[in-house]
Amino acid sequence: MEQTPPLNPLFEQIIADLLEKNFAVIEFLFDSVSLRHLKEGLLAKIAFGKLQKAGIGNRKNFAVNSPIRSDTILWLENDSEEISEKYFLAETQVFCDYLNETCYLGINSFEFHYASYETGAFYKRHLDRFKNDDSRKFSMITYLNEDWITENGGELVLYPENEIIKILPTFGRTVIFRSDVLEHEVLLSLRDRLSITGWLK
Ligand code: OGA
Ligand code: MN
Repeated sequence: MEQTPPLNPLFEQIIADLLEKNFAVIEFLFDSVSLRHLKEGLLAKIAFGKLQKAGIGNRKNFAVNSPIRSDTILWLENDSEEISEKYFLAETQVFCDYLNETCYLGINSFEFHYASYETGAFYKRHLDRFKNDDSRKFSMITYLNEDWITENGGELVLYPENEIIKILPTFGRTVIFRSDVLEHEVLLSLRDRLSITGWLK
């Protein structure tokens, strides 16, 4: 007989929120020491010029389109040997396994990139699904910005039906939402804004 996994209250809350609102906001889904290492690593990658201007569309249908978005990104390798990336990806796998076991979501893979919004960067209202590819099920963004205040701008704005939800990109906060239905945008950032953004597919 197959064993049912023990209930994870945090994951259950995320699932309940996703069912009810199509999004969930979680503080410290990932532990803060690892996130600090990820942040330090990202700052080094930025300093070494490893991030590239983001585009819209996927690899087959790609355009760098600065009126729509102006962040720079670097994709993580799913077989990364960097300890903090390994931890991040392993924890994400645990979460995906839980979703699959409890909700039969059939998540087979994920992809993540670092994102850096320099002062003045933004990402206009959009959906995370491509016209030629509907594989993205959930978007998942984790922020790495200490001491973020409202005056810094750069909020993630979610547009569920008849509502506008603004979320500050504060350190350790993770936002998960349905990629197929939830329109969202990143407001003009008045400070450098770092995150790890990805999709469960
Ligand atoms: C994206 C995106 C939101 C954020 O990269 O597609 O919408 O808060 N990011 O960084
Ligand atoms: Mn998006």
